[in-house]
Amino acid sequence: MAASAEAPSADPPQSGDAGEDSEPVVTPWTVSGDVDYNKLVDKFGCSLIPPEMVERIERLTGMPVHPFLRRGIIFAHRELNIILDCYEKGLPFYLYTGRGPSSEALHLGHLVPFMFTKYLQDAFKAPLVIQLTDDEKSLWKNLDVDEARRLARENAKDIIACGFDIARTFIFSDYDYVGGAFYRNASRIQRCVTLNQVKGIFGFTGEDNIGKISFPAIQAAPSFPDSFPHMFGTRKDIRCLIPCAIDQDPYFRMTRDVAPRIGHHKPALIESRFFPALQGISGKMSASDTTTAIYTGDSPKEIKSKISKYAYSGGRATVEEHRLKGADLDVDIPFKYLSFFLDDDEKLETIRQEYGSGRMLSGEVKAELIQLLQDLVARHQAARSKVTEDVVDMFMAVRPMPGLFR
Ligand code: TYM
Repeated sequence: MAASAEAPSADPPQSGDAGEDSEPVVTPWTVSGDVDYNKLVDKFGCSLIPPEMVERIERLTGMPVHPFLRRGIIFAHRELNIILDCYEKGLPFYLYTGRGPSSEALHLGHLVPFMFTKYLQDAFKAPLVIQLTDDEKSLWKNLDVDEARRLARENAKDIIACGFDIARTFIFSDYDYVGGAFYRNASRIQRCVTLNQVKGIFGFTGEDNIGKISFPAIQAAPSFPDSFPHMFGTRKDIRCLIPCAIDQDPYFRMTRDVAPRIGHHKPALIESRFFPALQGISGKMSASDTTTAIYTGDSPKEIKSKISKYAYSGGRATVEEHRLKGADLDVDIPFKYLSFFLDDDEKLETIRQEYGSGRMLSGEVKAELIQLLQDLVARHQAARSKVTEDVVDMFMAVRPMPGLFR
């Protein structure tokens, strides 16, 4: 099932290397099937994050790593070691992430890379650029240009609510920022990539509109510091680290291929697993179907009813059978969600043992999750309500940003 086709009106891209129907598919627009993350890392050519690397981050930053990193939710990288070497030597780097504004609000899956990016910014005191690809969503989702721009601004409020540091963060929408030095870099990238190459990487066909064909250069350009003269001047030596979920990897495989040919460093990546849909662990939570996703704008009642009604349970059919066999934790969505968002390691371990052995029932685990997510979403909404139009303007202003590196 193409659970998350982000392109309802167009055919979802046939990933060049997706293989048979039964094979899991991971592209920037579609994630379906049971993703085997070890195989995916091999296929894409990135690396798993080894425990020593997590320890090194903890040592270098002098603070405990984010639970996502500790728990292997952030699990893969490309050349993260080079960024850590830089940091150790006192050399500057910056963070780059983004969002394609396809819905009014973010869902919990989107919070994963943004919460993690917030931790990285705090831990490394790094400058950050956040790209809102309103152009991408207009090209792919049959959204009017102005509607896509409006959604970008709405999404910016959710992103700002994650707590980014205004002195070090620049948020931009493609429709408003692309031009100048940024566009010159995009052209340099476009000159290096052929139609056949993007067909191979993204599965474009002769039916896709011409905007899509050239869009990957627009997502690539923020990987190069001189696309942001108001932050980095004309410097080319500042390296870039991109936190994202692994569905975005194809864009940056292309970017890394091009970088040395246009005199730039390759961007490094740090990548997360997918936060799954309510209906089950295959695929990812996607913004296109309101019954598969929990949004940051949902009310406590909606959260409760979605989890009660739709969250796929690994609990057994009868209480007797459940007490005997215990829950199947590998497929249980409430437990999976807790493993993303329940900070308390001891409590999570207790639930794993009690629920896995059948002493705890699925209704009790759902109740834990409902409470946790109601609290998390309420905190998010309180933060978002403080984000005024003026605050959005400030984050999105092309402004001098002194003192980015100390
Ligand atoms: P978008 O809007 O589809 O997703 C935004 C970010 O959220 C991640 N993501 C998820 N992570 C975990 N679980 C999920 N279920 C889930 N769904 C989405 C995405 O990987 C992404 O990190 N083209 C991009 C926008 C973009 C971008 C970037 C993203 C532009 N530049 C640089 C990351 C890095 C997009 O449409 O993302």
